[in-house]
Amino acid sequence: MKKDLYQLYEARKAKKHATLILPDGQKLEMPMYSPALGPDVIDISSLKKVDLFTYDPGFVATASCSSGVTYIDGDRGELLYRGYPIEELAKKATFLQTCYLLYHGEMPTPAQFKTFKHTVTRHTMVTERVVDFIKGFDTGAHPMAVMIAVIGALAAFYHEWIDVKDQASRNESALRLVAKVPTIAAMSYKYSIGQPVMYPQNNYGFAENFLHMMFATPCEPYKSDKVLIDALNRIFILHADHEQNASTSTVRLAGSTNANPFACISAGIASLWGPAHGGANEAVLKMLEEIGEVENIPEYIKGVKAGVAGKRLMGFGHRVYKNFDPRANVMRDTCHQVLKHLKLHNDKTFKIALELERIALEDEYFIKRKLYPNVDFYSGIVLRAIGIPTSMFTAIFAISRTIGWVTHWNEQHKDPEFRIGRPRQLYVGDKRRKLTSTKR
Ligand code: CMC
Repeated sequence: MKKDLYQLYEARKAKKHATLILPDGQKLEMPMYSPALGPDVIDISSLKKVDLFTYDPGFVATASCSSGVTYIDGDRGELLYRGYPIEELAKKATFLQTCYLLYHGEMPTPAQFKTFKHTVTRHTMVTERVVDFIKGFDTGAHPMAVMIAVIGALAAFYHEWIDVKDQASRNESALRLVAKVPTIAAMSYKYSIGQPVMYPQNNYGFAENFLHMMFATPCEPYKSDKVLIDALNRIFILHADHEQNASTSTVRLAGSTNANPFACISAGIASLWGPAHGGANEAVLKMLEEIGEVENIPEYIKGVKAGVAGKRLMGFGHRVYKNFDPRANVMRDTCHQVLKHLKLHNDKTFKIALELERIALEDEYFIKRKLYPNVDFYSGIVLRAIGIPTSMFTAIFAISRTIGWVTHWNEQHKDPEFRIGRPRQLYVGDKRRKLTSTKR
């Protein structure tokens, strides 16, 4: 039996049961599964036999699927990709090696990696019709808006790779997406600032190629800086996957209808854009700019604590991490390295960020609610130091997360329990009523 199927089979061998006693005294036995890591899971699917649903807004206690890709322990501040700690991958792997690991489940051998890298690199270009399509948008359009449209439209250009039931076709479209999303993101940016688009350079690594497409012009090449390339590589690795978060769940829900991969990833990008999710890195920078001066911080914190107009400290807090975000620890070190390297450690925005971090870690309001700086608090500062415009921050998150999305989408299609996702509801609308005639 294949490893993933075997692991699912092992986890689903129910050794324990939970008993639910209904108000009429009826007892319902529900199997409990023990995952490879993490708390036990109660299988509530038998509730449908007695016409009952569970209610869990925001899915705080609901496992929507089984998955072998990423594991998070929010209390320990632990994040594993295919069993490997994120800290080790950030230190020892490249982003493309991490992509291989996530998609295939194992670190690549040198020969496997050579083929994988060659395939991704070979697909970085897009047809000129895609470039024409980008040119149809208003200049100044937000790159995320352009990406949602263009990536969704890739099905119109690459229709031969959208047979979702065929493994070879799924692999091909998954790799095309990993390769082309950075090109489309950089082209959207270049177009928005009125510069000619830069074509990918296949002799560069993944991060370096992206910086080239962002910053080179036909008149001047991009000047390579290893510290910045390494920092971007780390940002890509840290954001590559994160279990069943909002955008990944969106991709899975779209995927459950057998929608084509380009439509599913476009749905994921749309979901990522919100400031409570991937849009947070952009929101952090906007917040730091709004604060403006270190002296203004106490007033700002007062507003956050009073919940003025739903104001939140952007880049703080996480649904799952209630101790610390392990990605934030890695990003914090990278942030200091980059700012030192660029001699920006006296930068005003960075000083405001450090002071916010200090106050939040000492303030009772944030301690009580376990609101720690998350990865996007630091990644926004690093991206700004690299020279990436704020409007591209979430696009960079989307470039990183594409591998996570396609991995979950592919895993979902291999799942023996694959079926359309169809949540139910607690109906609170009007009871049955009669329509009186509206004819006049
Ligand atoms: N600033 C101030 N108060 C906050 C914040 C914050 N950033 N986050 C949560 N709270 C408060 C919230 O007001 C509530 O207080 P009370 O109990 O008094 O009503 C309490 O903490 C619990 O909040 P919640 O909304 O129930 O928490 P959640 O788990 O549903 O939300 C979150 C998680 C990430 C959406 C939220 O912490 C947030 O909005 N953070 C800011 C946005 C952000 O940085 N998002 C990036 C997350 S990391 C990247 C990614 O994985 O997408």
